[in-house]
Amino acid sequence: MKLKHLVSAADLNRAEAIQLMDTAVEMSSVSAREVKKLPALRGKTVVNLFYEDSTRTRVSFEVAEKRLSADVVNVSAKGSSVSKGESLKDTVQTLAAISADIVVMRHSASGAAHTLANSGWFDGSVINAGDGTHEHPTQALLDAITLRDRLISDPLGKDLSGLNVAIVGDIAHSRVARSNLLLLKTLGARVHFIAPPTLLPRALSAQAVSSHHNFDNAIEEQSFDAVMMLRVQSERMQAAFFPSEAEYSKLWGLNRERLSRMNNHTLVMHPGPMNRGLEIDSFCADSENSTILDQVRNGVSARMSVLYHLAGTERNA
Ligand code: CP
Repeated sequence: MKLKHLVSAADLNRAEAIQLMDTAVEMSSVSAREVKKLPALRGKTVVNLFYEDSTRTRVSFEVAEKRLSADVVNVSAKGSSVSKGESLKDTVQTLAAISADIVVMRHSASGAAHTLANSGWFDGSVINAGDGTHEHPTQALLDAITLRDRLISDPLGKDLSGLNVAIVGDIAHSRVARSNLLLLKTLGARVHFIAPPTLLPRALSAQAVSSHHNFDNAIEEQSFDAVMMLRVQSERMQAAFFPSEAEYSKLWGLNRERLSRMNNHTLVMHPGPMNRGLEIDSFCADSENSTILDQVRNGVSARMSVLYHLAGTERNA
C-alpha cells in the first residue's frame, strides 16, 4: 500500500479500504493471544498528540501501538507546553527533532491534520484521530469492519455493497458522519441521513441516497441494516439547534419502541461517548442489536492495521 498519511476517509480507494479491513481481521487474532504482541513496529516511535479529550481513540491507538511493539509517547494539550501557548508548528518540530516516525493527532481545528501532513514540519506519517467537525477516518474504518463482520458472511476480501446504513442525529457537527459517508460509499453501501433540518447541512444531504427529517417516516419507508446514532455535540453548538433535549429525544432519539419497528437484524451503532437518554436509550445501547462494544474492540485492530500499513512494515517484511 502506497499510503503515507491517513487524513481523510477519501484517502482510501476500495481496494485499500478492503486491504486495511482484512489486515485488521488478521490483527484481531493477536488480541486473543496470551502474549498480545507482534514485532512489526519495533524501533519505530509513535507520538499520540491529543489537543482534544478522548477515551476510545486515544486508548485504542496506544494499545494498538504497543501490540505492534512501537515506542509510544503520549502528549496532551493539558500537561504539555501547548498549555503555555506553543504553536502546532513548534510542537511538531520538537517531535521531529526526537525522531518520531508517526504522529497520531486529534485537534479541535478542522483541517489541522491536513495542515500537518502537508506542512514539511515533519517527515513521518500523520494519522488523523479526529479534527474538529471535519473527519475521523479510523472511526469510519472500525465501523466498516464492524458492519462487515456482523452482516456479511465469509467477509474477507468483500465490501459492503447493498447495505443500507442510516446515520442519525447531529450530522452538522459530526466528523464521524463525514468520514462514514465517504468510506461507506467507497465500499458500496447506501447511506441515508436522518436529522433535524438544523443539523443536516445541504451539501452533505446531497451526497446521501436519501435524507429524512422524520425518523418514524424513514423507518416506514426504508429497511435499514444499521442505524448509526450520533452524539449530540452540545460543546460545538453556539446556538439552539432544537427546542429542548426532551423534544430531541422524542423526535430523533433511538428508543425501544422505534427499534421494535425495525428489522430484527438491524444493528445499533454509536461511536461513543453516548448521551444515554438523549440520542439513544439504555435499552437500545445495551440490546443484542448493539455493536457499541464491538466497535471499541474493532478499534484496536483497525488502528493496528493502519499503523502497520502506514509504517511500510509490510513492504520490509
Ligand atoms: N469515538 C470516539 O472518537 O470516541 P473518543 O472521543 O472517546 O475517542
